[in-house]
Amino acid sequence: MKIAVCPGSFDPVTVGHLDIIQRAAKLFDKVIVLVMPNAKKTPAFTLEERVDMIRRSTAQMENVEADCFDGLLADYTKKVKATAIVKGLRAVSDYEYEFQMALVNKELNADTETVFINAVHKNMYLSSSIVKQVAYFGGDISKFVPECVHDIVKNRLSKREEDK
Ligand code: PNS
Repeated sequence: MKIAVCPGSFDPVTVGHLDIIQRAAKLFDKVIVLVMPNAKKTPAFTLEERVDMIRRSTAQMENVEADCFDGLLADYTKKVKATAIVKGLRAVSDYEYEFQMALVNKELNADTETVFINAVHKNMYLSSSIVKQVAYFGGDISKFVPECVHDIVKNRLSKREEDK
């Protein structure tokens, strides 16, 4: 069975993430969306909340599951015997960092290959940080996040909600 792990901080999951997950699900027998802490970022949602949002958003995708792990990605891919790590690439600026991570992960676990899937044009600008900023100032995030998590994200992040 060909298993792909799709790692990220997903804080929160966006329609851009979902597109990459959907396309990976067509290429592999099973896709595990893996929520991980990113040491460089302060999260708005706990790991469990992020897993829950991914489970809601991927409920219709039969070969997709979600998990979280606070450790090395290479240890997780070894544990589940993953064939591939799937990462989405938006712009060339993503590439240098992603390339570095791919090399380290290959060094730590030679059995798993990193595969990049390019973002579609309409999602090139989209990121979780952008969603958080728009939501914070009460902007419309309905085009950026899956419908089933819209209210969760809006209620947690809206500055206006806090002010009420
Ligand atoms: O969505 P992000 O924030 O770009 O995801 C980055 C993430 C969480 C995938 C990355 O920070 C990561 O792999 N963290 C796990 C720790 C690890 O394995 N580091 C070594 C690889 S360089």
